[in-house]
Amino acid sequence: MSSPHYPVFLCEIIENLQPQHGKKYLDCTFGAGGYTKAILDTSNCFVKALDQDPTVYKYAEKLGTKYKERFEFIQGNFANIKELSRGERYDGVVVDLGVSSMQLDEKERGFSFMRDGNLDMRMSSSGYSAADFIASASEEEMAEVIYKYGEEVQSRQIAKMIVQERQKEPITTTVRLAEIVRKSMHYRKSKIDPATKTFQAIRIYINKELENLESFLGNLNDILNPGARVLIVSFHSLEDSIVKSFFKNHSLKKVARSKYAPEPENYDESKWLKIISKKPILPTTREIRENHRSRSARLRVAQKIGGIR
Ligand SMILES: C[S@@+](CC[C@H](N)C(=O)[O-])C[C@H]1O[C@@H](n2cnc3c(N)ncnc32)[C@H](O)[C@@H]1O
Repeated sequence: MSSPHYPVFLCEIIENLQPQHGKKYLDCTFGAGGYTKAILDTSNCFVKALDQDPTVYKYAEKLGTKYKERFEFIQGNFANIKELSRGERYDGVVVDLGVSSMQLDEKERGFSFMRDGNLDMRMSSSGYSAADFIASASEEEMAEVIYKYGEEVQSRQIAKMIVQERQKEPITTTVRLAEIVRKSMHYRKSKIDPATKTFQAIRIYINKELENLESFLGNLNDILNPGARVLIVSFHSLEDSIVKSFFKNHSLKKVARSKYAPEPENYDESKWLKIISKKPILPTTREIRENHRSRSARLRVAQKIGGIR
């Protein structure tokens, strides 16, 4: 059976992770298991996989049957990776941010305005939903979220129209929200649907996507073995700039130094990473042609240097 999710950068992930016999890897965003399966097929290693979405269990069960003691799945949020790891350390970690095709395709999940479903958008299927946000946020809060997480310059008039419309009738479906957003906009700058940025903003906000990424990065050093590689795939500039600055802030600037010069005396503990991909890795034209979703993807790679703290 083919995978319901077409994994982005699959070759680049394996090439850069360099899975090795007997080592232990962490896949923080299991989805349909595309990365996990490729890692397990490449070498006789162990993979621990994580996803906050309980509906991916069925894919994990299948891999469990095939790879048995080489694979373990836990449902959880990667923001809590330190607690979930319980002292374990890994020789490499992959993170494929954003939503899966399964989440987008199931209209009941409410991620896509192309399909009419309840306004939900919760990856973990629990907690505060998009409908809760639309029903309860003030006009100012809504405008701020749409601007901050959707980088939508027409956020104020969108928020104003949402508030006017919800007074007439509660907004509970994706298609109705998309229509309200389109109606509120004075002009269209591009060919993409005008509701795209607002939907992205609400999804990022209610799932706390940027906060989760920050917490994960903050815990990273504590769960990696020296030499472990960190591979992060992002789909929009807000995520990518968090990853880029984290890698930059924790890596040593390359300074031209003679090979005979002594090592610098003041070793800086905060610089525990080496950047492997100087520029983000972008999808090839072939990958974009085969998988349209990959067009906005970028992959950054770094490696842990130094010893265990
Ligand atoms: C793009 S898909 C991953 C697809 C996967 N690489 C594959 O090959 O099938 C992203 C997945 O990450 C999960 N996810 C997103 N944020 C998460 C978080 N903070 N903690 C755990 N899982 C998360 C989503 O539920 C979704 O299943």
